[in-house]
Amino acid sequence: MAKTDSPPYLRLSLIFLSISLLSLFFQLLLNRFDELNPAPHPPEALSRVLVPVRKHFDRIVEATERIGDGLVDGPEDFAYDAESGVVYTSCADGWIRRVKVGDSVVGPAVEEWVRVGGRPLGLALRPDKRAVLVAEAYKGLMQVTMEGHIELLTDEAEGVKFKIVDGIDVAEDGIIYFTDASYKYSLHDYSLDILEGRPYGRLLSFNPSTNQTRVLLRDLYFANGVSLSPEQDFFVFCETFVRRCRKYYIKGEKKGMVEKFVENLPGYPDNVRYAEGLLWIGSPSGQNLFYDTLFRYPLLRKIMGIVGKFYQASNLETESGIMAVNLDGEVVARYSDPGLGQVTGGLRIGNYLYYGSLSAPYIGRLKLNQEGAPVSTAAA
Ligand SMILES: *[C@@H]1O[C@H](CO)[C@@H](O)[C@H](O)[C@H]1NC(C)=O
Repeated sequence: MAKTDSPPYLRLSLIFLSISLLSLFFQLLLNRFDELNPAPHPPEALSRVLVPVRKHFDRIVEATERIGDGLVDGPEDFAYDAESGVVYTSCADGWIRRVKVGDSVVGPAVEEWVRVGGRPLGLALRPDKRAVLVAEAYKGLMQVTMEGHIELLTDEAEGVKFKIVDGIDVAEDGIIYFTDASYKYSLHDYSLDILEGRPYGRLLSFNPSTNQTRVLLRDLYFANGVSLSPEQDFFVFCETFVRRCRKYYIKGEKKGMVEKFVENLPGYPDNVRYAEGLLWIGSPSGQNLFYDTLFRYPLLRKIMGIVGKFYQASNLETESGIMAVNLDGEVVARYSDPGLGQVTGGLRIGNYLYYGSLSAPYIGRLKLNQEGAPVSTAAA
């Protein structure tokens, strides 16, 4: 009796279990459908997105030096103090580390300076050098005094909280310019922001003498890096997924105006830093057909959003590296390191280009000549 009875019971409970699991699965699926609301059309700035990338200026760089290998965890951005020769870098484990850089790779001392927690992204040294300003993705705009005191400066504007505080620079007068990549998605879900393709980013300023946070521009597509021009009359800010950077004037007749700087970049721009006539722009991925196609078709993005819930799509990035753009907005070179993905920023100091990535355990360093072309470091 028991022998003939138990299989149907077993089958019944298996069927029941399957139905529960299936309904749970569809529930999750539908939730995802509700949450992700892809823009019906690609942004206007992406209408030229399939323009082929010029390849002739590419420089593939493999033999770079590794600074602080194993001692820095995903160095995202850099701030440099020329006086002390110290580079501050923002790490994935919430630490701001100090790295003494010099001509010799032997013994660049890495120091665990201050742990701000979360995910510090953009960094800038205050002009009076009394504090390092930190764009901490989750908490907001912070500053860390040289004594190591951590202070939150601002975490919202016009009643809307920041979700991904990202790029930063500071003018000589102390005004801080920074970006919130998205007010909808947090850094953890940044890929959903991209898949949705709606402009949730804002360009902001913070005045430390009044504690006032101002929205300079809204409706930006993943607002990212910020860099003051050498004359401090404007700054350049980047919007990652539309592959462009624009100028925002802070002085003179054009004050408050926005102007085109560079469009159709050969990669997705992240941090930007000015040095020696060029803007050095980190790009976690080169332009690629996968993303370009994705941005064109909202349904594809919806599907990717669902897939992404169960499967973290990675390694879709190709030709990650640094783009160099002159002040006329012309891309003059692109350096890509095949061994390194998710490059977020570069900083030229003297004859070296330092660069970091979300995932590397070191700071890459590349020797450059006067013209900014790489020099072999095999003998170094
Ligand atoms: C700005 O905020 C800081 C910290 O909360 C405070 O000490 C300072 O007095 C404020 N300054 C002004 C002008 O409100």
